[in-house]
Amino acid sequence: MATLPIVELLLLAIIIVVSSIKVQCFDFKFSDFQEENRKDLSLSKNSSIFRDAIQITPNLNGDIKNTPGRAFYGKKFKLWSKKKGKIASFNTTFVINISQKDSPEVGEGLAFVLSADSNVPQESFGQWLGIVNATTNGTSRARIVGVEFDTRKSYEEEPDGNHVGLDINSCYSIEQQSLSGYGVNLSMGVDVRAVVQYDGKNMTVFVSNGSETQSSNPVLSVPVDLSSFLPETVHVGFSASTGNFTELNCLRAWEFHGDDVGDDSNLLWVWIVIPILVLGLILGLGIYWRRRSKKDDLERGSANIEAHIKSSTAPRRFKLRELKRATGNFNHKNKLGKGGFGTVYKGVWKEKEIAVKRVSKKSHQGNQEFIAEVTTIGNLNHKNLVKLIGWCYENRELLLVYEYMPNGSLDKFIFYDEKTGKGESNQPNLSWETRLIIIQGVAEALDYLHNGCEKRVLHRDVKCSNIMLDSEFNAKLGDFGLARTIQQREKTHHSTIEIAGTPGYMAPETFLISRATVETDVYSYGVLLLEVVCGRKLGNQSELSNYNNSIVNWLWEYYSKGRITDAADSNLDRDFAEKEVESALILGLACCHPNPHFRPSMKTVSAILAGEMDPPQVPLERPSFVWPAVPPVFTQSDYSLTGSQSQSQFSTFSEVDGR
Ligand SMILES: *[C@@H]1O[C@H](CO)[C@@H](O)[C@H](O)[C@H]1NC(C)=O
Ligand SMILES: *[C@@H]1O[C@H](CO)[C@@H](O)[C@H](O)[C@H]1NC(C)=O
Ligand SMILES: *[C@@H]1O[C@H](CO)[C@@H](O)[C@H](O)[C@H]1NC(C)=O
Ligand SMILES: *[C@@H]1O[C@H](CO)[C@@H](O)[C@H](O)[C@H]1NC(C)=O
Ligand SMILES: *[C@@H]1O[C@H](CO)[C@@H](O)[C@H](O)[C@H]1NC(C)=O
Ligand SMILES: *[C@@H]1O[C@H](CO)[C@@H](O)[C@H](O)[C@H]1NC(C)=O
Ligand SMILES: *[C@@H]1O[C@H](CO)[C@@H](O)[C@H](O)[C@H]1NC(C)=O
Ligand SMILES: *[C@@H]1O[C@H](CO)[C@@H](O)[C@H](O)[C@H]1NC(C)=O
Ligand SMILES: *[C@@H]1O[C@H](CO)[C@@H](O)[C@H](O)[C@H]1NC(C)=O
Repeated sequence: MATLPIVELLLLAIIIVVSSIKVQCFDFKFSDFQEENRKDLSLSKNSSIFRDAIQITPNLNGDIKNTPGRAFYGKKFKLWSKKKGKIASFNTTFVINISQKDSPEVGEGLAFVLSADSNVPQESFGQWLGIVNATTNGTSRARIVGVEFDTRKSYEEEPDGNHVGLDINSCYSIEQQSLSGYGVNLSMGVDVRAVVQYDGKNMTVFVSNGSETQSSNPVLSVPVDLSSFLPETVHVGFSASTGNFTELNCLRAWEFHGDDVGDDSNLLWVWIVIPILVLGLILGLGIYWRRRSKKDDLERGSANIEAHIKSSTAPRRFKLRELKRATGNFNHKNKLGKGGFGTVYKGVWKEKEIAVKRVSKKSHQGNQEFIAEVTTIGNLNHKNLVKLIGWCYENRELLLVYEYMPNGSLDKFIFYDEKTGKGESNQPNLSWETRLIIIQGVAEALDYLHNGCEKRVLHRDVKCSNIMLDSEFNAKLGDFGLARTIQQREKTHHSTIEIAGTPGYMAPETFLISRATVETDVYSYGVLLLEVVCGRKLGNQSELSNYNNSIVNWLWEYYSKGRITDAADSNLDRDFAEKEVESALILGLACCHPNPHFRPSMKTVSAILAGEMDPPQVPLERPSFVWPAVPPVFTQSDYSLTGSQSQSQFSTFSEVDGR
């Protein structure tokens, strides 16, 4: 939002610049002249402002003979543009008052001029009217065009001592007209109003005495291309002179309206400034929109999550600040562990112990997984699932808050070092009863995920390190980073698309079907069950991932030899009910059946572990993995379930599909 004012300012600046270009006409108006107007004017030596008027030639008590003078507007006018091939049109209206002074006759006159030079030429008094001198007269050097109001007949061609003429680089007019027929006597000491118009082609002059406004009848209208005599920018103003005879040449009022043909010097900065402004605007907008869309994304993401989490048991949305305080700013002393998707810290919030998973920004658990986890477990409620208390999504930080599990994860109790014969962190040995409670708990959790909740959920990463133990060693299934809910339309597949999971826990068909299914979760559970009952040495990864070297293969060998209970963890010291352990191990093998169709459903698993059912019959030899897997109905005797239970077992198995 902070960028918005910048954008607005830039827009405003552009509007101002653009409009200033549009309004850049050359306009000014003096209804009279005061001393303070001097700064807007350029007056020659001896010209002065006196009695509300400019006296272009002086009004001195001494000698005012043979004096030229000029009075110009302070700024130059862009008359034409070579680049644009345009000539400006202009209108100017002025009131002059010429009166006889200390002289038997009047002389010499006054002119409205457009000139390259504002300085009065030397020796331009007398007949030259301050326009040219003997050297520049008639030459292109003069670079001056004027409309003369001549009060003296200086040479033969002039009609009289009261005329108007158009002068180009000369005081000899190319066209002239006596004012006698227009009710005007220039030197009578009265106000004479004159209008000079130029439309780019014709110069037209109207003259009237003070009582008349403007005659519709021009005194002069002469076609003239000013651009061929004058530079592109010119001074506009007046010149006047006295000679052997003198007069007072007064300008009493003046207004000027000139068109704009584009001022180069102004345009230069405009062409520099506008691109900068536009660039700035684009950048500003870019930044603004990016921030906005980022913010929108976050907000939309949050809204999405919040929309998904509707139940009354919905997890709370935490502030990052709260979680920092709870975990001592993610102090490494509070570190509980490092999982696949981030680091878990212990924290205390409202006097309750919590576990905060700080999802690593680098991890594969992007928003997708985050939302999966929050929306999945957010709506789940089962005593054997790790409870998600809350979540936080701030500053692109993803955090999940769980109930704290004092006994940590199951793997620490199950995997042991052969040399020391101890658990990973010198954990106490788990009794058979505890182990049974654990595997029952996990089975119930998975049954709930697969069959018990609104949408079927595949955990996809069932393994010892994802089983948490509370203070009473109740198992709680956690880490739903890979979990996927199966939407109704996907249900026929019972699957999700990507392969994900942990080597050793993945069913053999996973690699062929490239997707997780209910049966692949059951397979992972089977491996977990066998690990819990048998205990696991810390094998190396390649060994774990090798299907033939897996715990399943190893156990099947014990089973073939008819002494499956020998495989039970030596740490148990055979302190268990033989029948229970045997049943559990056979169940584990059934769950790890290479043919997914033969794996029991989690509901069946729960019933067997509760002693409500006998374990399924499992072939003595480990069946080889055949793909595509053949459903039980079409199996050959090798694969079929032996014994009287076969039919009922099959119907139980079919629960896998038909929930
Ligand atoms: C012009 O003005 C100067 C003083 O600025 C003065 O000395 C000079 O006499 C004037 N010239 C005329 C012709 O009045
Ligand atoms: C000059 O005046 C005439 C008539 O008043 C008008 O039509 C024209 O637009 C004016 N031109 C300029 C440049 O002001
Ligand atoms: C006429 O004026 C020009 C400058 O405008 C100057 O160079 C030249 O000497 C003047 N001629 C005379 C005769 O003074
Ligand atoms: C001044 O120039 C004009 C041409 O514009 C020429 O006809 C005239 O004779 C010249 N006058 C003098 C005195 O040189
Ligand atoms: C102004 O001119 C009109 C004719 O255009 C004339 O009738 C009138 O007398 C003149 N006024 C003066 C003061 O010269
Ligand atoms: C104009 O007025 C002056 C001064 O009043 C006078 O000398 C001159 O004769 C008049 N000219 C005409 C043509 O009326
Ligand atoms: C014209 O100028 C003279 C001399 O400055 C002045 O006496 C006269 O009143 C002026 N005319 C008008 C109409 O102001
Ligand atoms: C210029 O003036 C001449 C003669 O006065 C006239 O014939 C012509 O139409 C005018 N041209 C324009 C463009 O006003
Ligand atoms: C001005 O008067 C002087 C003598 O006083 C004379 O030499 C000169 O020729 C006159 N100038 C004009 C243009 O009449």
